[in-house]
Amino acid sequence: MSSIPTRENLLRWFEKNRNRSRELFAMIEPSVYYDRPIPVRNPIVFYEGHLSAFNVNTLIKLALSRKGIDDRLEELFAAGIDPETEAAAGTNSPWPNRDEVTQYCFAADSMVRHTLESIPLSDTSSPFFRNSEVLLAILEHEPMHHETLLYMFHRLSHEKKSWTRGLLPKASRLSNGNAAVKSQSISIPAGKATIGVDDDEFGWDNERHQHVDDVPAFSIDSLPVTNGQFLEFIDAGGYENASLWDEEGWEWVNTHKIRHPLFWEKRGIQWMWRGMKEYYPLPPHSPVYATNAEASAYARLQKARLVTEAEYHRAAFGTPEGAERLYPWGDEPPRESHGNFDFHYWDPAPVGSYPQGASAWGVHELVGNGWEWTSTIFDGFDGFSPMVSYPNYSVGFFDGKHYVMKGASPVTAKELVRKSFRNWFRGTYPYVYAKFRCVRAE
Ligand code: AVJ
Ligand code: FE
Repeated sequence: MSSIPTRENLLRWFEKNRNRSRELFAMIEPSVYYDRPIPVRNPIVFYEGHLSAFNVNTLIKLALSRKGIDDRLEELFAAGIDPETEAAAGTNSPWPNRDEVTQYCFAADSMVRHTLESIPLSDTSSPFFRNSEVLLAILEHEPMHHETLLYMFHRLSHEKKSWTRGLLPKASRLSNGNAAVKSQSISIPAGKATIGVDDDEFGWDNERHQHVDDVPAFSIDSLPVTNGQFLEFIDAGGYENASLWDEEGWEWVNTHKIRHPLFWEKRGIQWMWRGMKEYYPLPPHSPVYATNAEASAYARLQKARLVTEAEYHRAAFGTPEGAERLYPWGDEPPRESHGNFDFHYWDPAPVGSYPQGASAWGVHELVGNGWEWTSTIFDGFDGFSPMVSYPNYSVGFFDGKHYVMKGASPVTAKELVRKSFRNWFRGTYPYVYAKFRCVRAE
């Protein structure tokens, strides 16, 4: 069922994205514009240029074979030049001054807006316009980077961010939570899970082709693992116990002397949680944000494991009757009461805060409050082929080191809350807003 988005909706989404980008870049002190808060990613300046240049590179130059605005800047701000390692990032800055970036973005945005206002929206002879691919690719790309930017801004010291301009969520966090909400182990019988996107719908290349997996019976915790529970793992010597870690995780722990999740900091005897806006005492009932390596080690100590991608689909979208749903809560479009996503809050909420978002089996927070780590290594599905609009979107990450994440974090736009959407990061990438829960074989 392909539905062509209306011009009005495309334009509205474009402006919404651009406005949020402007708000995000207004949040930081100008002095950190060239900083690189995450050493393995580009400096902040890159992303401001990248968002506008990506639209020109992809829609104007690649799909429409028209001239862009400035070839040099469009190459500098092209996708896929994130340094893989700290060393590769280099020190000499090729980055232009901020006025030049702002002017480029203004010109690029005008060109893209004008193009969206005037081009035919379904050119059946062009593969770029099949399922509105190039249009939806540029529109989904921008909010993905909103989240990436916020991971980066999370690492800036709090005084480098402004709380009077830019994006202003309701509060930095929700209440401290309720210890009475207990996680239950929920049995899910063997059944089928539909994975991937329909051939006649927009999706990224890694979502194709849609297929049905048989999922054996398993049991899954109704709630994500909390900070309080993870503290027990630390106290039990989890970071010193080699038998809980795989080779890459153990090397990461030892090389960087990892003894706690990145978001935790100890002040005297008190654990603090580094929020987007301020530090606060470790919220015991909030989900622990951890790497896939930390999550797997925790699960192993519990004689459990992380969810596979197929099990996630079954737990989130399956039903006891056998039919599958669009979202864990049913088929209604995502709303604020369904989960902690779409920028209402900066930080996670205590687990159990979103009963209306529970799946048919009673599994909570499969969408929102942090991406869900899976044990599935990121790879293409059978018949994978790179998409024409962005051939390098996925392939470079099929290296056996990246794991699939599903769901959404507090700062994932609701437009990205799609069943078949797959996110991925390296198993030892500590910056991402990602949680997990335990699964056991039945
Ligand atoms: C899908 C979030 C892993 O940020 O690395 C943005 C998305 N790719 N521009 C990333 C992406 C190119 C990607 N993730
Ligand atoms: Fe990008």
